[in-house]
Amino acid sequence: LTVLSVASEVFPLVKTGGLADVAGALPRALAPEGVDMTTLVPGYPAVMRALEHGGSVLAVADLFGGPARVLSGTAEGLALLVVDAPHLFDRPGNPYVGPDGRDWPDNPFRFAALARVAAMIGLGDLPGWRPDVIHAHDWQTGLTAAYLAYADRPRPGTVITVHNLAFQGQFGPELLGPLGLPPEAWSVAGVEYYGQIGFLKAGLQFSDRITTVSPSYAAEIRTPAGGMGLDGLIRARGADVAGILNGIDDTVWDPAADPLIPAPFDLKTLKRRGDDKKALQTRFGLAADPDALLYGVISRLSWQKGLDLLLGEIGTLAASGAQLVLLGSGEPALERGFLEAAAAHPGRIACRIGYDEPLAHLIQAGSDALIVPSRFEPCGLTQLCALRYGAVPVVARVGGLADTIVDANEMARAAGAGTGIQFSPVTAEMLAGALIRTADLWRDRDAWTRLQRNAMKTDVSWRRPAARYAGLYRDLVAARGGG
Ligand code: ADP
Ligand code: GLC
Repeated sequence: LTVLSVASEVFPLVKTGGLADVAGALPRALAPEGVDMTTLVPGYPAVMRALEHGGSVLAVADLFGGPARVLSGTAEGLALLVVDAPHLFDRPGNPYVGPDGRDWPDNPFRFAALARVAAMIGLGDLPGWRPDVIHAHDWQTGLTAAYLAYADRPRPGTVITVHNLAFQGQFGPELLGPLGLPPEAWSVAGVEYYGQIGFLKAGLQFSDRITTVSPSYAAEIRTPAGGMGLDGLIRARGADVAGILNGIDDTVWDPAADPLIPAPFDLKTLKRRGDDKKALQTRFGLAADPDALLYGVISRLSWQKGLDLLLGEIGTLAASGAQLVLLGSGEPALERGFLEAAAAHPGRIACRIGYDEPLAHLIQAGSDALIVPSRFEPCGLTQLCALRYGAVPVVARVGGLADTIVDANEMARAAGAGTGIQFSPVTAEMLAGALIRTADLWRDRDAWTRLQRNAMKTDVSWRRPAARYAGLYRDLVAARGGG
């Protein structure tokens, strides 16, 4: 079975969030399932630099105002097709915003170009290769299924995965023609969404199957509270919507063989974790106290992640004798808030504003607990890494956090279960309550170690999720009368 995955970012080439991790890990995870996945990505400078044996397989005379080529090659072990369109992708900055922090004004065309090329490949325009299924990710690739539908030619099955419903890609109606969409696309049964062209809406409307990255998030987005305006459409798609949890790449995240941490450890050598904690405390200028409960946070700083709630509890946390290290970047007010908190509590609270992959590994290995107080979380990956590294996750009971962490309540512990702490509803008061429960458990070191061991034994790999995706692709091909 061949699948074309279409993504606007892919680890380790280009990453702004978990989407890249997932797009980067899926192909390798699916190989043992007999699924041959090739990934189509934009030709950003970082991708063009990394591309090995890049050969041109298709030339497109005009792709929204300039010439383009589709290159085939490999990079970092990934089989890639790359949309080499310098007028759209050869620029500095990240995939979505320029160096000034603003969205590229031609983003609708940049990502429509990615979708357009995906659709061309699906229609068989690429010599010698046509996938059985096209798997698109998030709003950036939402038009893929629409282009295929309006082409009115034999096409592969289509799947779209929603990684985050908060980003929907809405643009003005005057772009309908320029984006190459037919006039009849301007309807609720087409790409129209509250008077705009909705890229994600189009993906949800036209894809054969919709997935999101946890069963709980799949349920939440059916509700007005979680659906962000798309709940009606999602409900209407009924059984075509499924939740499949993410995994993590357990070779990148392996505490027993992690070159980015000073003291690798496993279940048998858990004590060595103490050296990682000490290294982390030293690195952040915290008191090197093995008995202080050390919390970690690794996150984008945005409303979604609920870190304003944590900021509100910082005083209590520091007064209790606990410590906190935070690594993140995002909203200036939050960055400022955490910097001020660090200045107010030297030796107890510390933060690094920025993006630092190696430091993320050290925090997972050295902190005792990882806090994820998200208001909503489609899946979340940091809590999965935390499970694997024995940093007990303290999480809001929403979306993928609800589905991946087993709350260590009294009955769970009596049954030998529990991998972390959950709280709900997501308020500052309930977060404070969770921190008190965590501190109580920390005082009972045997109970704590049991929790850590349970966490580390959890299977957070891609094995189960990959089998689910493979099953989904096969069902889809069978349902469409192929395969
Ligand atoms: P989201 O995609 O919503 O940001 P996820 O938890 O799914 O949240 O994925 C975030 C990914 O980005 C994880 O791999 C996490 O380790 C990483 N990450 C987030 N912020 C940082 C940072 N400041 N430095 C290094 N890695 C980060
Ligand atoms: C999004 C979500 C996050 C999820 C990631 C990968 O960025 O915010 O919860 O883990 O996508 O699916």
